[in-house]
Amino acid sequence: MQTLFQSLSIVRSLLFGLLLLGGSGCDLSQAVPSDWVLSKTSQERLRERTAEMVGGEEAAAFRGQFEVAKAEVLTALETLFGTAQAPHWPMGRSGDEAPTLLVEAAAVYQAECTHCHGAEGFGNGPSSPFLEPAPWNFSIGVFPRTAPQGGLPKPKDIKDLLAYGIDEASMPPFERLGEETLIALSGHVLLLTRRAQVEWALVDAWIKAGPNSLQGDKPLEIYQAWESEMANASKNNTPVQD
Ligand code: HEC
Repeated sequence: MQTLFQSLSIVRSLLFGLLLLGGSGCDLSQAVPSDWVLSKTSQERLRERTAEMVGGEEAAAFRGQFEVAKAEVLTALETLFGTAQAPHWPMGRSGDEAPTLLVEAAAVYQAECTHCHGAEGFGNGPSSPFLEPAPWNFSIGVFPRTAPQGGLPKPKDIKDLLAYGIDEASMPPFERLGEETLIALSGHVLLLTRRAQVEWALVDAWIKAGPNSLQGDKPLEIYQAWESEMANASKNNTPVQD
């Protein structure tokens, strides 16, 4: 088993290697996107659907229509969850972090977590190809370490894991960030999970109904449908604890 110091120094040298690559024509700023993008799977699904709509990827209208599809899903997601720099919870959801704390957590996430877990939490940050096990992908909505019983973890369980780190994986401890920041970071992880799952639902809706189908209250309705599905699923699967 590797010690924490060994893991840290491996990650450091990998990052240094990436910086060197940056110097030789590969731009590191592209590896760490400054804003959220759609997952590769979503892009593939939208690509297939738009190709079908316009008569194939060779058709003149394809590129434009594909860009429209991606932009409409991204705009709906931004309405619900804000941006990577200024995230917020969708309207109608209460009892979570104050917006200022979420914005702070987003900045800390970008500095401390993105290079492993990726800006969107897909587990695909620039260091991820070099790590075994790979950094967790929050988008699948399953958390074996912090919610082994199924459903979404409680912020406190994520906070405890962050404080200790994961010795046998390469995740360092983050106790130095302080209790309040760790709780806010836990909220950010849960926000990323919701955002990714709702992305899937929005892409489904676009594929079914086509351009202009994600306007007005539609994104919020899709989000609320997802929330109530989750609530029912965890009612069925997990024992009530409090
Ligand atoms: C050096 C890479 C690295 C960094 C940096 C890192 N993680 Fe991780 N993280 C991992 C790995 C590896 C795992 C374990 C994956 C597994 O269990 O297969 C993990 C697991 C997790 C899990 C557990 C998911 C579950 O199973 O419940 C959470 C939550 C998490 N990370 C959040 C964070 C947050 C928040 C940050 C920033 C404060 C962070 N991580 C920084 C690599 C990293």
